[in-house]
Parts: sequence; C-alpha cells; structure tokens
Amino acid sequence: MTDPVREGWWQDGLGPAGHDLVRRDADAFLHQTGSSPVVSALRAVDGIWLEDADGRRIMDFHGNSCHNIGYGHPAVIAALKAQLDTLPFCPRRFTNAPATELAERLSALWPHGPARILFGTSGTDAIEMAVKLAYVATGRKTTLAFEDTWHGAALGAVWIGGRARERAAFPEFQGCVHVPPYWSREPGISADDAASASLQALREAFGRDGGFAAMLAEPIRSTPHRPPDWFWPEVRDLCDHTGTLLIFDEVAVGLGKTGRLYAGEHFPVRPDMTVLGKSLGGAVVPLSAVIARADLNVAGHLAIGHYTHEKSPLLAAAGLATLRVLVDQALADKAQALGGAALSRLQNLAARSGLLCGARGVGLLMALDFAPEARNLAPSVQLDCLRRGLNATVSEGRFLTLSPPLVIDPADLDRAIDIVEAALDRLCP
Ligand SMILES: Cc1ncc(COP(=O)(O)O)c(C=O)c1O
Repeated sequence: MTDPVREGWWQDGLGPAGHDLVRRDADAFLHQTGSSPVVSALRAVDGIWLEDADGRRIMDFHGNSCHNIGYGHPAVIAALKAQLDTLPFCPRRFTNAPATELAERLSALWPHGPARILFGTSGTDAIEMAVKLAYVATGRKTTLAFEDTWHGAALGAVWIGGRARERAAFPEFQGCVHVPPYWSREPGISADDAASASLQALREAFGRDGGFAAMLAEPIRSTPHRPPDWFWPEVRDLCDHTGTLLIFDEVAVGLGKTGRLYAGEHFPVRPDMTVLGKSLGGAVVPLSAVIARADLNVAGHLAIGHYTHEKSPLLAAAGLATLRVLVDQALADKAQALGGAALSRLQNLAARSGLLCGARGVGLLMALDFAPEARNLAPSVQLDCLRRGLNATVSEGRFLTLSPPLVIDPADLDRAIDIVEAALDRLCP
C-alpha cells in the first residue's frame, strides 16, 4: 500500500542523507504497513522535537503515544546512566530496588484501592498478561472487545483487537466476541447515539453468552473519542452482574495525556485491571505494566508474565523517573489546561471551512474531523504540516490527530496550530 505522506515527501526531493538511510531501511527490514518503508530518517530527538538526517527540525505531535514527558528527558537519562553503572540486569529468582519501587508507586497512584503489578516490555505483553489473568480468575476463556480496535500485535491480542485484516490472516484463535464501539465510525451520529448502540450490543452479547472472562477496552479512544459519562458505569454494571472483569487498556491514552493520570479517572468506575505501556518508559525504553486489583493475585501456580526482562532494574529506573516527572510537574493538569485552549482554536479553524465537520479534544489529545467529501484531503494536510515542521497523524481515515508531549511550551503549541492553520488555508479554504 502506498503511503501518500511518504510519496509526497520523497517527491519533494527532501534530504539526500535521509534518503540513503531510508533506502537501506527498505532493503534491510521486512516490509509492513505503517513501519517500512518509512518517510525519512532521524538523527536526534529532544523535548517535542525530531531532527531528521539533514538537520530539519519537526515538532512531534504523534510520537507513537510514547512521548508524554518529551524526548530525552534529563531525569530519565540520568536515572538510566546511574542504573547502568550499578545494576543493569536482574536475573530470575532475584528482585531489585527500582522494579519493586516502581510496582509500589504504580499501586499507590492507582485510584482504585490495593493493587498488584506485572511488568512487560510492550503493550502487547501486558494486554496478554491481563487477559490470561482474567482467564484464570474467572475460569472462562472468552473476551469481549470492540470492533476496529488495536490492542497489540501478538496472535492472541490481534484477535482481541478485532481488526478484520489481521483476523483474516491469523484465523486460529476464536476466543473473542466483538461488538460495535462506543464511538461512531461515521460523522453525523451523536456520541450518545453511538454509545447507546454499543451498550445495546453489549447487553445482547452478555445475554447470549452469560458472561466473559473480561471486557477489554480503552476507556477513551486516542483518536480521541470520549464516551458519554453514563457509558462506563452501565458497562461496569453488566460486568458485575455476570462476573466479567473490566480491563482498561491505557497503553496509548494513559499517564496524563487525557488530563488525568489514568484516563479511566474521567468516569466514576473502577476497572479490575489497568494496562499501561508506551509513555511509561519515558520514550527511551520499552516498558509496560498490568495493574490488577490485589485480590486477583490468583495465578501464582502459572507463568502468566514470565518475561525475560520482567523485573529489569534499568527499565524500572526509567519508569520511576518518568512517573516522578509526570507527578511532580502535574503534567496531567497541564494537559487539561493547555488542551482546553488549543481545542478552542481548532474549533474556530474547523468552523471556517466547510470541508471540516468539527474538532475534538480530551486533554492534549486533539483532532480535526474532515467532512466525508474531504477525507482524501486529510493525508495532504498531514503532508503539508510535515513540510512546515509538524508531525501529526491521520486516524480512522478522517481525523487529523494532534498529540503533543505534555511538557510542551504554550508558545510552541500555538506555533503548531499556526502550522495546521496554514495547511488548512492552502488545502481546505
Ligand atoms: C491501545 C493500544 N493497546 C495496546 C497496544 C500494543 O502496544 P505495543 O505496540 O507496545 O505492543 C497499542 C499499540 O499501539 C495500543 O495503541
């Protein structure tokens, strides 16, 4: 599949140094959608900035949802350097201070009572550990999840995520029921109507199957889509009545991005487990975690997360430093305040063009919504922003999603929206 952003960037003839690496990358890696071949090559990252192989600086409003505290944060780099000099690895049957402290800290910050933790190195690992724990805790093997979602790349998680393409390619695993999500996949349907339809489908699924090991979902979708306040309490009731565990996947939306440390805190519900990943490693190391109700400590006879790096002191040191920055600098509150101001500007921009049908935002997760007849313009606007020094992403084929680091300076956020405005003025007058 051709990537219009990559094609456009290359047609510009940008960056011979980058091109050489890009070609070598295309020859060295197995190709896969969204990963290889790539748009360009980087030589440095710093704060909100990417620097490409030719020295071009680009604000990163995508960052694979890993850069909540920005790139190369000095606290994380210092913690890693110190850890490297003392205890860089911890083999099985031993523990260590950073891993234990990180588990204790995550439990203490989880607003739902006593918790227990497992660490992994990817969101995929952590999702699978959570689902395996739900299998053991409930004695059931079927998970409930939303259509058109992504919960990871492993065979099991691919099926739970419910993306039709990968499910068709890997048809063995049958342990998941999918229902329409709480957001509308077409414009013109209100958030209330979409969530009502989703809830109805959930009721029917619970009615048919009695109960599931788990209901696994993002409490807020990173596009962003935020369900109405009533949605999660209703789902919690369904779970409670059927003995189904509720797992919130906060791999992409957790750790402050939505204006709360945990995205689930926007709703008056208690998940049985929360899964974190991506930003937990401070955009330096791969680190993920399952936070589970303490009384779900019921799988001691099994190896549900027996990963080689499960108690890595190095990864944990990065996680601890990241949490310290997030909490000490109140970055969730900052995301809430900055996101509110930025969203008003985006809404004004959307109101000026008939080719856009609105703007949405939750904290520092924001998006412009392209009208159905203008969807093919979304990648062109993305490319134009990139040429002007802003890396954004197109989600669900119709949203230009803007997700800056929470450490962003308000002036830089304004400059980024100026870039979006200039691209819209040119392409969506
Ligand atoms: C919501 C969500 N869950 C889980 C994952 C899997 O995380 P990882 O790619 O670290 O395995 C992703 C990755 O994009 C994600 O967006």
